[in-house]
Amino acid sequence: MTTTTDQPYATGRTRASIERALADAGKRIDALEASDLAMLEDFHSLGRLATAALIDLAQVGPADRVLDAGCGIGGTARLIAAERGARVTAVDLTPEYCEVATWLNDAVGLGDAIEVRTADVTQLPFDAASFDVVVSQHVQMNIADKRRLYAEARRVLAPGGRLALWDVTASSGGSLHLPVPWATSPEQSHLVTPERLAELLRETGFATAHWNDLTEPAETAMRQLFADGQPPLGLHVFVPDFPAKAANLVRNLAEDRTRLIQAVLTADAASLA
Ligand SMILES: C[S@@+](CC[C@H](N)C(=O)[O-])C[C@H]1O[C@@H](n2cnc3c(N)ncnc32)[C@H](O)[C@@H]1O
Repeated sequence: MTTTTDQPYATGRTRASIERALADAGKRIDALEASDLAMLEDFHSLGRLATAALIDLAQVGPADRVLDAGCGIGGTARLIAAERGARVTAVDLTPEYCEVATWLNDAVGLGDAIEVRTADVTQLPFDAASFDVVVSQHVQMNIADKRRLYAEARRVLAPGGRLALWDVTASSGGSLHLPVPWATSPEQSHLVTPERLAELLRETGFATAHWNDLTEPAETAMRQLFADGQPPLGLHVFVPDFPAKAANLVRNLAEDRTRLIQAVLTADAASLA
């Protein structure tokens, strides 16, 4: 099992750092709107752009029961609840992030649409076939036992349900430049190649509906984004050493040390998972 101490996320200051940044940006916490959080709440490559593209591709709609597996501070869950009208369950291993996700959900009026639980995505506390969509963005890089991760996603999905992924993989250009947003040391990062990722997904009962390698366009877009410096409300507010991590993220992509995969898979009705 993965533990929070294996990972670079908890700081003990996440909520206080966000509160201070919001106040400095002139935002009132008691009158917060979802759009106030835009650049701050999506902890993955290309931020909100990637989330919007992924939920479009997975055709998430109001009738879907959605699980956000590894929700971070909850940006993906909030976008799905606010813009798709779906009920979302959001789980994360880092209790501090779950507390912040719950606080922000309530602050923007989405507390009733999203349930947040501290849980390990390789050991989900849900019955089989509880969800129609599982979304997971930039989480598997921290997880060594990917077979268990995807077997759990398959178990909790109803037959025909969708698994929507936005993930970093290994590539042939050599070892990672560290730190990166998901790891400050090599033992925190568990990357496999896109081919191995696809194989693991097939073996755990998924059929591929969409598989897009977006490395080049994402690298170009992030390079432009970061060239303008950090926006006042960006991930640097609560992620330690974020500018260096972001620079290495882009450098690893440019040097073909990593790749970025967007994918939607369907839970194969024939598989026993
Ligand atoms: C880079 S952040 C991405 C957060 C969120 N998906 C997003 O895109 O904003 C990775 C997240 O994965 C969570 N995580 C890592 N391993 C996990 C596990 N085994 N179970 C649940 N969450 C996990 C971390 O706590 C962290 O919040």
